[in-house]
Amino acid sequence: MESKNKPGPKGLVQAAVIKNQPIRTQFWKLLLKLAPEGSRFFSNALPGQFAEFDLTNTPLPPMDLIPENLREHAGRTILLRRPFSFSDIFINYSSEGTYVCLEVIYCVLGPATVRMTSLKPGDCISLIGPLGNGFWYPETMKNALLVTGGMGAPPILHLASFLKKHYPSIESTAFVGARSIDMLPFEIKIGNKTGIMLEEFERLAIPAYVSTDDGSAGRKGLVTEQLEEWLQTKKPAPEKTVIYACGPEPMLAACAEIAHKHQVSCQVSMERMMACGIGLCQSCAVRIQSDSPAPLYRLCCKDGPVFDSRTVLFGEGR
Ligand SMILES: Cc1cc2nc3c(=O)[nH]c(=O)nc-3n(C[C@H](O)[C@H](O)[C@H](O)COP(=O)(O)OP(=O)(O)OC[C@H]3O[C@@H](n4cnc5c(N)ncnc54)[C@H](O)[C@@H]3O)c2cc1C
Ligand code: FES
Repeated sequence: MESKNKPGPKGLVQAAVIKNQPIRTQFWKLLLKLAPEGSRFFSNALPGQFAEFDLTNTPLPPMDLIPENLREHAGRTILLRRPFSFSDIFINYSSEGTYVCLEVIYCVLGPATVRMTSLKPGDCISLIGPLGNGFWYPETMKNALLVTGGMGAPPILHLASFLKKHYPSIESTAFVGARSIDMLPFEIKIGNKTGIMLEEFERLAIPAYVSTDDGSAGRKGLVTEQLEEWLQTKKPAPEKTVIYACGPEPMLAACAEIAHKHQVSCQVSMERMMACGIGLCQSCAVRIQSDSPAPLYRLCCKDGPVFDSRTVLFGEGR
């Protein structure tokens, strides 16, 4: 199962900030509007694709608004663009023409993402995109199992709404994991431990099984345990079932193993440090399974970030 997506046109795009608000302690949601000429690059962007954001000229917020643990390093100069995927992409029609809005959920953890929190409506930033391949959809698919761990949520949320819109007969089920309730990058509707509901999946009528490592929300344990149990109980037809996963690499490796055991296919969205995002600097290598003794690599930014899990050698090439 190789990627079926042919990359569409990409370009340098100016994006205007519409909204930028915290959704939970360290997670923010940013809504961007593209001008009509930029919109044409993103109007067919796929879930799993990403863009490189230029935040070099975005100012730091006032010191008291920077999380205490990040104050020391937040002022570091940013030389490189930063990759971000999208939690949704909307196409809007107005008298001025057709334009695209990009929704980004981001975690504040370093100089670039601290700067992002200072963006306010009317500000402009430059993006290059859409980049990478995105998820793909086998014709036989009837069940999509959407697995996310920690900050893997945005492209999985985009995928969930994309499938509802373009493949309404496919049944999606979400498996959401995080270290604790505070690390769930979602809008939580009922914040008690057992009754936790994630607005984003609720809105789409997609059942979501939540797990946290410490049991502070949903079931205590790993998200992949719930996935495995679901497969064992429901026994879906393997050729009609696809696992889509984005999150920490050990979670992706576990999804690949479960997929192999149950003979279902699995697409994993890999994460690497990315300098250029367009296949020039070779900084984002993903080691690929190969029969030859010499290691074989693909580029996460260009050949991925989504890979067929059977092709990846996990835990290598970082
Ligand atoms: C394809 C792709 C899509 C992404 N989508 C999102 C998204 O939707 N939302 C979001 O919040 N983040 C996303 N990221 C991660 C995001 O690019 C980084 O969090 C961001 O660059 C951090 O920049 P910073 O200057 O704030 O922190 P930095 O100081 O650059 O990083 C802070 C910490 O995060 C680690 N880190 C940074 N980037 C990566 C990376 N790419 N892989 C592994 N570890 C990293 C660093 O090692 C460091 O420990 C994505 C990354 C990739 C490759
Ligand atoms: S980020 Fe430069 S080659 Fe992938």
